[in-house]
Amino acid sequence: MALLEWKDVNVSFSFADGSTFYALKDMNLSVEQGELVALVGPSGCGKTTALNVLAGQVAPVSGQVRLAGESVDGMLPSIGYISQADTLLPWRTVLDNVALAMELRGVPTKERREIARDLMAKMGLSGFEHSYPRELSGGMKKRAAIARVLAVDPAILLMDEPFAPLDALTRQKLQDDILDLWEATGCTILYVTHDLTEAIALGDRVVLMGARPGRVVKEYPIDLPRPRRVMDVKFEPHFAELEKAIWQDLSSEIRRGEGQP
Ligand SMILES: Nc1ncnc2c1ncn2[C@@H]1O[C@H](COP(=O)(O)OP(=O)(O)O)[C@@H](O)[C@H]1O
Ligand SMILES: [Mg+2]
Repeated sequence: MALLEWKDVNVSFSFADGSTFYALKDMNLSVEQGELVALVGPSGCGKTTALNVLAGQVAPVSGQVRLAGESVDGMLPSIGYISQADTLLPWRTVLDNVALAMELRGVPTKERREIARDLMAKMGLSGFEHSYPRELSGGMKKRAAIARVLAVDPAILLMDEPFAPLDALTRQKLQDDILDLWEATGCTILYVTHDLTEAIALGDRVVLMGARPGRVVKEYPIDLPRPRRVMDVKFEPHFAELEKAIWQDLSSEIRRGEGQP
């Protein structure tokens, strides 16, 4: 049985003039336990909406999202969601930001500070416990936001373009960190990105979504060796073949979405 499943999921939104459109139409996708699946597709095709449905933040008009066969309704404790808009609270220290999700779950102060301190050390943030978010670089802020989610030990991570705003070197370091984390914990990751290279470098499988309506168009198994380092895997001869094949389909979806032939 699949760990995560979108079964004929339909999500509609309304325009200001009262007309409605489908952000997701018959979306079907399964993710197996322990898989790292990368979701790509043209801007606006419904990638974020697909995650929001699973996280209980958007209700489908029909269809179901399932976790281990059970219909999901509302955010589940086993799911950690690193959304695009994820930000640290500016008035809290980094340590208290990392401890936030634990605080919301009632973990006692001393215990959550200890766990937060440990996680910060693992994420290369030692020494910044008492700093405020404004004193951190973009990459450090992202690490802290990830540490906050990891603190409650989620079995499933949903990540929505987590490193898009960062510079290439920082991004690559964090991508390797995600690979390490995934290999060490055996968690299941659904990783949304508009960056095809990143999707292939990380994923066991790349899932292509198409726009208007948003749905899964095609899936590509990524049979590159593991364990992977992002920089090394990009130079595998097979990498370029995969990238070319998926890019042809992705670019045709982008053109179709723009109404071009
Ligand atoms: N809360 C909302 N209300 C109205 N329209 C929305 C809402 N969320 C997303 N949309 C629309 O749904 C479509 C899919 O959006 P989204 O899932 O954010 O796409 P992606 O993440 O692939 O860029 C877009 O056309 C977007 O404008
Ligand atoms: Mg999005």
